[in-house]
Amino acid sequence: MPLQFAPIIESFRDDFTYRNSPQAIKRFPLPFPEDSYMYSVNIEPATPRPGTVFEHLLDVDEHYRSEMAERALVLDKDPRRSMVLPHMREAAWETLELVMESFSRDYPEWFTLQRNGNAWTWENKALDIRQEFIVGQEDTLPYEPLEYIARQTQGDIALLDQRDGDLFMDAGVVTCPADWSLAFDVGMSFKQWHAPVPLAHQMGIFDRALKYLLNIQVGHPVRRLNWTLTINPRMDTSAETYHEWGKDRGTVTVDNVGSKVHLRVELQLLVRLPRSNALYFGIRTYLASMNELVTQPGWGQRLHRVMRDLPDALADYKGITRYRPQLVQWLSQFDEAVRTPAQAAAATADAAALHASSHS
Ligand code: HEM
Repeated sequence: MPLQFAPIIESFRDDFTYRNSPQAIKRFPLPFPEDSYMYSVNIEPATPRPGTVFEHLLDVDEHYRSEMAERALVLDKDPRRSMVLPHMREAAWETLELVMESFSRDYPEWFTLQRNGNAWTWENKALDIRQEFIVGQEDTLPYEPLEYIARQTQGDIALLDQRDGDLFMDAGVVTCPADWSLAFDVGMSFKQWHAPVPLAHQMGIFDRALKYLLNIQVGHPVRRLNWTLTINPRMDTSAETYHEWGKDRGTVTVDNVGSKVHLRVELQLLVRLPRSNALYFGIRTYLASMNELVTQPGWGQRLHRVMRDLPDALADYKGITRYRPQLVQWLSQFDEAVRTPAQAAAATADAAALHASSHS
């Protein structure tokens, strides 16, 4: 299906006008293959899967223009969301190249790249940008190259330097993190920035994951999914802005769960950059409300069981504990095994009404 953008620039703050179309809900990457969830080394080769968010190496969707407007807002307010340590300049240029090549190959109707030696012309019709520049010469671009391309790419980017058998977060543009901060983590090693995560260290997950990542080869990208919950469709849940969004967790009631609580899924992509040997780590964030998710067959029941049985340590770390009772109670109406007779009757009536309207 050709890429189309939302008819308005949606907001991820204040009046929160962000919504998913039925097509976007259908392709939402639900991260729960089973009725329960626990951390694991869930890394797989990034092989394309047509008709899903895995179709292309870098996914562009209907929210592209809205997310780029949100990113510009955050970067203009807080320049420390973009950082490139001096030894990461080559990796920053390689990232720009990776994005421009992927976008122009996979979405040629919106993006084109012409190369003439080091003189490149980039056109981004979605944002009305046409840029001539010389690769390697920062002053031919309006921003430092990583920030330049991150302002045109959905999702956050971290660049990891590989040395001494470890990975170091030495560059990034991070405007929509799930409660962490690039300015705090910059320069840290793999286990240092993962220090706050419960249980996974003891389970050996980070030892195994690091070993895997150090061996990623050029031309063999890998991916994994991670998730949390966010109140309202708010992209910028950075540690820096906790004072703006943390209190929202106290506003959830059984009546507003469906519209307030959003599943936040990160499609994480790891690509070896050939010249610098750095790793590109893309964190492509998808948000959908509970109301949107339960429209898909079986998803409400799955969400109910996962949220009900989530280990307390994970629920605490993800910030869910405060409103978990309301969420689980609301989701229980979609679980055939536990719903009350009244809920079952209402669901049957809803299904009958839907059936009747689709045949009228
Ligand atoms: C090298 C690329 C990676 C980067 C830059 C990265 C970064 C991060 C960051 C910044 C956090 C938040 C920590 C905090 O609370 O301050 C996090 C959480 C986490 N990371 Fe990674 N990570 C990477 C790869 C991986 C891999 C390969 C795994 C595989 C198992 C993994 C597993 C986790 C888990 C389980 C959490 C907790 C998430 C949650 O419960 O919401 N990470 N990661």
